Amino acid sequence: MALKVAGRGRIPPFIVMDVVRAAEARAAAGHDVLHMEIGQPSTPAPKGVLAAAQAALAGDVLGYTGAFGLEALRARLADWYRLRYGVEVPVERIALTPGSSGAFVLGFLAAFEPGDRVALATPCYPAYRNILTALGIETVLVPAEAEHGFQPTPELLERAGPLDGVVVASPANPTGTMLGADALERLYGWCHTAGVRLVSDEIYHGIVYGPAATTALAMGDDAIVVNSFSKYFSMTGWRLGWMIVPPDMVRAVECLAQNLFISPPTLSQHAAMAAFDCVPELEENVARYARNRALLLAELPKAGFDRLAPADGAFYLYADVAHLTNDSTAFCRRMLEEVGVAATPGVDFDPERGSRSLRFSFAGSTEAMAEAARRLAAWKR
Ligand SMILES: Cc1ncc(COP(=O)(O)O)c(C=O)c1O
Repeated sequence: MALKVAGRGRIPPFIVMDVVRAAEARAAAGHDVLHMEIGQPSTPAPKGVLAAAQAALAGDVLGYTGAFGLEALRARLADWYRLRYGVEVPVERIALTPGSSGAFVLGFLAAFEPGDRVALATPCYPAYRNILTALGIETVLVPAEAEHGFQPTPELLERAGPLDGVVVASPANPTGTMLGADALERLYGWCHTAGVRLVSDEIYHGIVYGPAATTALAMGDDAIVVNSFSKYFSMTGWRLGWMIVPPDMVRAVECLAQNLFISPPTLSQHAAMAAFDCVPELEENVARYARNRALLLAELPKAGFDRLAPADGAFYLYADVAHLTNDSTAFCRRMLEEVGVAATPGVDFDPERGSRSLRFSFAGSTEAMAEAARRLAAWKR
C-alpha cells in the first residue's frame, strides 16, 4: 500500500540550486563555467575565524550550548549593534540560530498561526514563500515596482487585504535594492499601527555601495530582525545566523529552539567569536564586490543587459530581459550551454514576472566577472 506523503512538504524547489547542479555538471564534463548563479561569497571564512575554529577543535568538548547560543557570542553581537548602529540590544533578545534559515523557521512559527496572511513584495528570496507555505501560512505576493526599488510600501500593503505579517530585506535578494532610513521608518510605523508583524531580513548589511543600511531595531522593538554570518562574514557553510527577538516572543522562540535544534552549531559559534575582529579582511571582500559591480554596470549594458535594478547593496544585479526573452529559464540554460555563464532565472524570485528577468551574482573574482562580460558581449543569441 502506498503510504501518505504530506502535501505541505511539497513546496517548489529552490531553483537556483538546480542551476548550480547544471553548472557543476557542465564543469565536471570538462567545460569552463563562470559562476554568476550562486548567492554566496567566493572567499573562505576570514583567517581569524579559521584560527579560532582550530583552537576550539583542539581544546573544547564542543557539546551543546544553550538554545540561544554562547553567552559570550551574544554579548559580542550586542557590542556590534552598539558600535555599528548605535543601538542597544539586550543580550536576552539575541538568539543564535542554524543560519538565518533557522531563524525564519523559529520566527515564523512564533509569530504566525496556520492560515495567517504574510505579505512578500516580489521579486524576493524564494525561501520566505516556501518556508511560510510549508508551515501552513498564506503568502500574499505583492508585485513591487521598479520605481520603488522593488520594495514594499505602505500603499502596496494597504491594497493587499488584511495582513498578519510582512517580510522585507534591505539590501534585497535578488535586486540588491535598499530601503532608505525614511522608507523603512514609514514601513515600520505602518506595520506598528496596523498590528502587522514586520520581519526584517538584514543578512546583506555590511555589503553596501553607498550609505550604510538601517536596522529596524532603531525604530522599535516589535520587529523580528534576522541576520547571519553567511554573507558579510563570508561563512555560509558554517550555518550560523541570529535573530533579535521581540520581547513578547522571547520565551516562545526559546522553547521552539530548544525542541527544534537544541542549540546552534557549537564549533561555528566558537569560530564566529573572532569574526568581529576580522573587519579589515571583510572590508577587502566588500571592496572587490564594489569593483565587480562597477565593471558589470559598465560592461553588461554593452552586452544587451541594460535594464538593471539599482544594486545599492548585496552582490546581485537583477536584469529585466523582456526585450531578449519571455522564458528566462530557457534563456539561462542557453547562456550556460553556449557561453558557459551561469545565472539564475527570475522565476525563482517572482513567479509572475520572473520569466522576463534574471539575476547575476557578482560575488566571484573580478577576473571571472570580466571574462563573463566579454563572453556575453560576444554571444550570438
Ligand atoms: C535574502 C536572504 N535571506 C536569507 C538567506 C539564507 O541564508 P543563511 O541561512 O545562510 O543565513 C539568504 C541566502 O542566500 C538570502 O539571500
